Amino acid sequence: MKRPIAYVAGTGRGVPKRVMTNHDFAALGLETSHEWIVERTGIVERHIASDTETTCYMAADAARHAMARANVAPGEIDAIILSTATADRLLPATAVDLQAELGARRAAAFDISAACTGWIYGMTVAEGLMHTGVAETVLVVGSEKMSAIVDWKDRSTCVLFGDGAGAAVLKRSKPHAREGILSAYMRSDGTLAELLWRPSGGAKIPFSETVLGDRSSYVRMAGREVFKHAVRSMSDACDRALDGAKLRGDDIDILIPHQANVRIIEATAKHANIPMNKVYVNVDRYGNTSSASIPIALDEAVETGRVKEGTTALMVAFGAGFTWGSMIVRF
Ligand code: UT7
Repeated sequence: MKRPIAYVAGTGRGVPKRVMTNHDFAALGLETSHEWIVERTGIVERHIASDTETTCYMAADAARHAMARANVAPGEIDAIILSTATADRLLPATAVDLQAELGARRAAAFDISAACTGWIYGMTVAEGLMHTGVAETVLVVGSEKMSAIVDWKDRSTCVLFGDGAGAAVLKRSKPHAREGILSAYMRSDGTLAELLWRPSGGAKIPFSETVLGDRSSYVRMAGREVFKHAVRSMSDACDRALDGAKLRGDDIDILIPHQANVRIIEATAKHANIPMNKVYVNVDRYGNTSSASIPIALDEAVETGRVKEGTTALMVAFGAGFTWGSMIVRF
């Protein structure tokens, strides 16, 4: 397969208005502190969606910005890929709500469930659709309302997450173009699923009085274990993406990692031999927005001029599953 097949024509983000700071947890009666959260994670504040700011609403906001930047009308979109761990309802996919909301009449639409790695998975699937000729223009969105699935009584998880959406419009590359996806890598290990999961509330253990009582439909995480795997897998994924594009750490202009914890980001950058001044960090302002984190960061980097024509970006993610993956894109 000769790359590039697909390039990023536009990016966008959709972020809830309300900001919740670390200090606001005191009002919930949680035994935590701003100092603990900043020291262990780098997070200072996160956005929290209102009832009307649904996963689809945030996705549409991000998508409209990305489509405007790409100068793409709804009718030109061949496929909508929405990555989310927080679907607005279980059937049908939230992607079809987005399709209807945007009026993208010609588009196929489906959700991807790969947790924090979902947007990288989605971008890779989109590239595949272009390779086979099924699609020419694909909207790839990560939208997450994590506040709806975290346990607000569990200080070890609820302080970590935030809400938001990010999007990119991918278009088929012109022959001999230099910009576009240069390499992509995806992996998973389901033997470790129970280290970061929602034990109940699906078809296997449906909602019941018991589930509501034991709070087992909320996110549970073995933080320290997840941390170790995240560093190892994201480091490995950086190597694989660099190998795939025949590049070295020095060739990367900007690293845009999944934003879960600044310590994980620092360890990953060190492994990839990329100095922190070339790493995009916004975990302090958003917390972990799961699969929305990379496209939100990418859109901010575009807006502030850190990603521009000619920039080579390495994106790398890790999340529940476990899933992990990476991608190098030249803009
Ligand atoms: O996006 C998917 C990937 N997710 C991640 O990458 C998250 C990965 N994990 C992490 O980022 C970190 O493991 C955490 C931030 C979740 C935790 O940091 P840690 O340095 O690994 O802390 P720990 O879990 O080892 O907990 C240390 C202590 C514990 O107390 P004891 O047992 O030492 O007495 C916790 O009970 O900190 C306590 N603790 C808290 N204290 C104040 C846990 N949460 C809090 C809190 N405030 N919010």
